[in-house]
Amino acid sequence: MVEVSPEILQHYRDADENGRIRSGLGQLEFVRTQAIVRRHLPPGELRIADIGGATGVHAEWLAEDGHDVRIFDVVPEHVQAAEQLAKMSSHISAQLGDARQLPVADDTFDAALLLGPLYHLPVRDDRVLALREASRAVRSGGLVFVAVISRFASLFDSLEQGFLFGREGQKMVEQDLTTGQHRNADNTPGWFTTSYFHRPDELGQECRDAGLDVLAVVGVEGMASWQSHLADRWADADDRELIVKSAELIEFEESLLGLSPHLIAVAQVR
Ligand SMILES: C[S@@+](CC[C@H](N)C(=O)[O-])C[C@H]1O[C@@H](n2cnc3c(N)ncnc32)[C@H](O)[C@@H]1O
Repeated sequence: MVEVSPEILQHYRDADENGRIRSGLGQLEFVRTQAIVRRHLPPGELRIADIGGATGVHAEWLAEDGHDVRIFDVVPEHVQAAEQLAKMSSHISAQLGDARQLPVADDTFDAALLLGPLYHLPVRDDRVLALREASRAVRSGGLVFVAVISRFASLFDSLEQGFLFGREGQKMVEQDLTTGQHRNADNTPGWFTTSYFHRPDELGQECRDAGLDVLAVVGVEGMASWQSHLADRWADADDRELIVKSAELIEFEESLLGLSPHLIAVAQVR
């Protein structure tokens, strides 16, 4: 049985993962992820694995779109919340499962979301293993959507939130930038837990090393997430459209991919 670091489990026990992308500027990640996934899914009712699907934030709208979604997550509290959601939709099911060892037969799904687990697998071999597992669980020709956090995210976040101006913040950002290995050694409230932050080119390479074909690498939020004043504008429909557009305009611009907090690779199973 593969193991998950206790601090990662604790982080998600304490965090409001269900509300994170449903409120404020977090909704930019939500609507952009929806758009990226929807534009690539083939027509019809699909069987979709949501690996690291948490409480079902993405499973919910995918089920409303007519797909059958099975959530896998390592955090028991997430799975319990997802099971509550599943009681309200016959298109959703949820179970405990680690991305590196999925409890499913080969070719079970038409597509998989892997939006989160790679953040929390600091060892490269584990990330490639998780990608291979997603690939194994999806039929030939099916799609795997893979999210990572940008190597530069904590630099931009620390500037925006102000912790770059403290010694601990500087040390953390320096380590993140040089190694990609993010740690919250002192359990500072509000800081992210044990993670790996990708350079944009590493994402495609890891997918290819797992035997996947990469169709696209997309910047999810662009610059807007780093500008908290935009949260006030999100409530206005016209402004919201422009904020989303600001991300779309540079989503494939290679020189700016690392500006987005998140990147998504759209990959295809051979
Ligand atoms: C940042 S959340 C993302 C949740 C959701 N997929 C989304 O995009 O909003 C990361 C999720 O991955 C889960 N996770 C972390 N490591 C995992 C692993 N090895 N296998 C499966 N899930 C994992 C966490 O419990 C958490 O629910």
